Amino acid sequence: MNDTAQIFDITAIRAEFPILSQKVRDKDLVFLDSAASAQKPRAVIAAMVGAMETQYANIHRGLHWMSERTTEAYELTRDAAARLLNARDRSEIVFVRNSTEAINLVAHSYGRAILKPGQAVVISGMEHHSNIVPWQMLRDSHGIELRVADITDSGELDMAAYEALFADGRVGLVAITHMSNVLGTYTPAGRIAAIAHANGAKVLFDGSQAIVHRRIDVQAIDADFYCFTGHKLYGPTGIGVLWARRELLDAMPPFLGGGEMIASVSYERTTWAEVPHKFEAGTPAIIEGIGLHAAIEFIESVGYPAIAAHEAALTDHALAKLSAIEGITILGRAQDRGGVVSFTLDQAHPHDVATLLDRQGIAVRAGQHCAEPLMRRLGVDGTARASFGIYTTPAEIDALATTLERIREFFA
Ligand code: ALA
Repeated sequence: MNDTAQIFDITAIRAEFPILSQKVRDKDLVFLDSAASAQKPRAVIAAMVGAMETQYANIHRGLHWMSERTTEAYELTRDAAARLLNARDRSEIVFVRNSTEAINLVAHSYGRAILKPGQAVVISGMEHHSNIVPWQMLRDSHGIELRVADITDSGELDMAAYEALFADGRVGLVAITHMSNVLGTYTPAGRIAAIAHANGAKVLFDGSQAIVHRRIDVQAIDADFYCFTGHKLYGPTGIGVLWARRELLDAMPPFLGGGEMIASVSYERTTWAEVPHKFEAGTPAIIEGIGLHAAIEFIESVGYPAIAAHEAALTDHALAKLSAIEGITILGRAQDRGGVVSFTLDQAHPHDVATLLDRQGIAVRAGQHCAEPLMRRLGVDGTARASFGIYTTPAEIDALATTLERIREFFA
């Protein structure tokens, strides 16, 4: 763990997160549930409070100075998100509530208007429900076939199985996680996109987990759609991003209708605003959007190389520590993985494990992690899951391991 210490001042990072200095039942809080939602640095809290205290107004429609200032602040987030993803243009950034909404937007708009009945959508065997259910809804309403690319026993995408799904030439879209919220697996985005494109299909990556730990370059991986949510990236809830190639957004009809997304309205005919506003009906999450900008700047100030090195070392440390505990089974052994470790403990239900950890101030998630089909594939009812963030320390992982040892003894 010491090799990253010079580039990563964990004490200074933790000082940016006021919530982490709390005690829980007289014990230090050990927060190992960042994959569900990450904690917020002072910069994000300050940006949101500051905007509400000094300039708050609705955006894109007021002529007074507060509306102009707030519009400018909100729109700067679009530039920051474009920079974060290396988008070709800021107009390729559509603000949504979260990744779930982004995927639903693509399913409703691209799915209904561009995909044809009889075409297929490919997902993987390690998707979150948010990247399964919208495609089932499209299947049932629009005659789209849903195909699932299986995973290997080590929790990686089975590339041969994936490629075989294209054999009949009917796949129109691949919608796939870039990092599993259960197994921690990074999927090989560049290869996935290359195979999809060679077979005439577009590809959407759910980057909700991936973008937290690693720099994402949508041009380098040759994606067509990429989405993420703000609250896992140290930003607020209620704001996320759908990035898509401009020509796709231009060709797609709106998802939601209402104010803001129009050019002109009459009872007979309505015309749409330019991209991206065509997809942003109604008053958006203004303060949350401003908070997301602060979160992106926070990530940029630390830098992805340092974040990735810190979290890779933490993950290695956690895998080594947990593997050494008798009765613990780690789900997923992917070569390329991020800071999420799911495990079961013999004879103990994951909810009981999480409850006993919580008594010692250690917060993990337990259950099916919104991935019921994956649980079935793994042959488990659920798992406990420890997930790491920019502020996680090796000592916290040691505390997890020590407490798990005690829980194991209790159940034995
Ligand atoms: N998708 C979030 C998780 O994996 C909620 O915990």
